[in-house]
Amino acid sequence: MTMRAHITGWGKFVPAQVLTNDDLTQIVDTSDEWIHTRTGIAERHIASDDETTSTMALQAARQALGVAALKPSHLDLIIVATATPDYLFPSTACLVQDALGASRAAAFDLSAGCTGFVYGLSVAADLISSGAYENALIIGAETLSRIVDWSDRATCVLFGDGAGAVVLQANGAEGGVLSTVLGSDGSGANLLRLPAGGSYEPASHHSVAEGRHYLKMRGREVFRFAVRTLPAATRLVLERAGLTLAELNLVIPHQANQRIIEASTRSLGLPPEAVFSNLERYGNTSAASIPIALCEAIEKKRVKQNDLLVCVGFGAGLTWGATAVRWSMPLPPQPISPWRRIWQKLRYFYAAARSSVRRLLRWLLALGTNWKGSDGHTNHDK
Ligand code: UT7
Repeated sequence: MTMRAHITGWGKFVPAQVLTNDDLTQIVDTSDEWIHTRTGIAERHIASDDETTSTMALQAARQALGVAALKPSHLDLIIVATATPDYLFPSTACLVQDALGASRAAAFDLSAGCTGFVYGLSVAADLISSGAYENALIIGAETLSRIVDWSDRATCVLFGDGAGAVVLQANGAEGGVLSTVLGSDGSGANLLRLPAGGSYEPASHHSVAEGRHYLKMRGREVFRFAVRTLPAATRLVLERAGLTLAELNLVIPHQANQRIIEASTRSLGLPPEAVFSNLERYGNTSAASIPIALCEAIEKKRVKQNDLLVCVGFGAGLTWGATAVRWSMPLPPQPISPWRRIWQKLRYFYAAARSSVRRLLRWLLALGTNWKGSDGHTNHDK
């Protein structure tokens, strides 16, 4: 039987702290009027000191697994799409894997800028339809507030923090992920980047003093690239699925700028209600924007069973991508019973305890080996 990848769970998390346009006027020379008319953004959520990409990813992941009624131990694969991982390595996906107790899952981070979630969805869907895996968790999560230069009004007003996740599961039924389009053009690498902190320009006093650990963007050029790419990728992904724009129920585009969304909507000849937008309240959350928007579209009853959706994004790289999905899950989802909630909490408590025990055992083993070494029996160089 041909296996198809169906979205069976979804979840989102945004930090409680909200930064409004008016708040930003206290930080840089800007105005609510400029930000709102040029971008459509009114406010964004900002992570607190103890929130990171992995903690937000974990919250979104738990919700998604809850909706799918899937045990973390049944996951085969975890992908975290992010440009702001907790560390360069280990991957944020491994931190999430450990916190979930997803004991048999492969885990890796995916770097494709704001297109990361669409890339992740495509990779996971192909691994599922090839028969390699049955259950995958794809997360888009970002803490952009940590790499934004809060003295640069051209960029700091645009971005926000948050995470969104979906569970993809193998199923022989019709629908699910129908087609994907992925693209890249590295000649535009300089348009949107974080210059320092990698192997090209490692962290140094100089790089920090020059502010080269902050995001840099040539906004107008990215804008032009976006309004060209979004409609083209949407058309192509439908063509690959053998479908037309007339059959499309909802486009969930990357939430970067309301003017980009409106220009793409016009170019596709779609009515405004066929394209979902929520960036007014979240700003641009990069790889998290599409899964957060998908969750909100579901909450607002903008998605129904059998609807045809297109998720479409663009971003640093340059990259772009689109995924056509025939929504197969009944909506709204079954509410999670109080008992199941308790079980889920216990499961995550057990995962944390298991992780601590493994660390302790590793520490004891290292202690034992060192003790042996001091006795002259073990040579670490061997
Ligand atoms: O997620 C993927 C990547 N990101 C994007 O998709 C972003 C794509 N680009 C954009 O959304 C838009 O280019 C921006 C919102 C970034 C900028 O809008 P724009 O209409 O392209 O403005 P601009 O950069 O051409 O700047 C116009 C003016 C400039 O002043 P002058 O030179 O005309 O006097 C800027 O200095 O607006 C000024 N400006 C601001 N003024 C008040 C730039 N930022 C601000 C600000 N407040 N925050």
